[in-house]
Amino acid sequence: MKRACVGMTVGTFVVAATFWFGFSAQGASWQEEPAAASASKALFNSRCALCHGPDGHGSDMGKTLKVKDLSSKEVQSLSNDDLIQVISAGKNNMPPFKDSLKKEEISGLVRYLRTLK
Ligand code: HEC
Repeated sequence: MKRACVGMTVGTFVVAATFWFGFSAQGASWQEEPAAASASKALFNSRCALCHGPDGHGSDMGKTLKVKDLSSKEVQSLSNDDLIQVISAGKNNMPPFKDSLKKEEISGLVRYLRTLK
């Protein structure tokens, strides 16, 4: 029984890793898929707007946590990798999302952030 559990854990990891790398390799095709774009918007509204506001300028709660305006030059001048890093690992009052969002969901959010400026 124990052995089977370990096997399943490893199996799940391999599947997840394949998915992860598969997606980053073809990441650029996203823009041609409006369904993915609206999914990222919905994800932003459900997971990020609480602090950042639906337009990225910051909700009242976000402002007390000192969020930055996501449409600002300061945030928009960060590279995609930096944005992925902040969303994955968090920063000060910003919680990490690497355990609750998939890699491709995070890169979808970064593309969504680029539409806010
Ligand atoms: C609990 C509130 C909260 C939630 C939810 C939240 N953030 Fe943040 N976010 C913050 C705070 C606070 C900062 C400012 C961090 C700092 O620089 O001190 C921030 C900063 C950022 C930055 C700018 C980073 C930088 O280096 O300037 C980005 C981009 C960002 N958040 C994206 C997101 C995305 C995308 C989501 C949803 C997946 C999200 N945030 C959810 C609070 C939140």
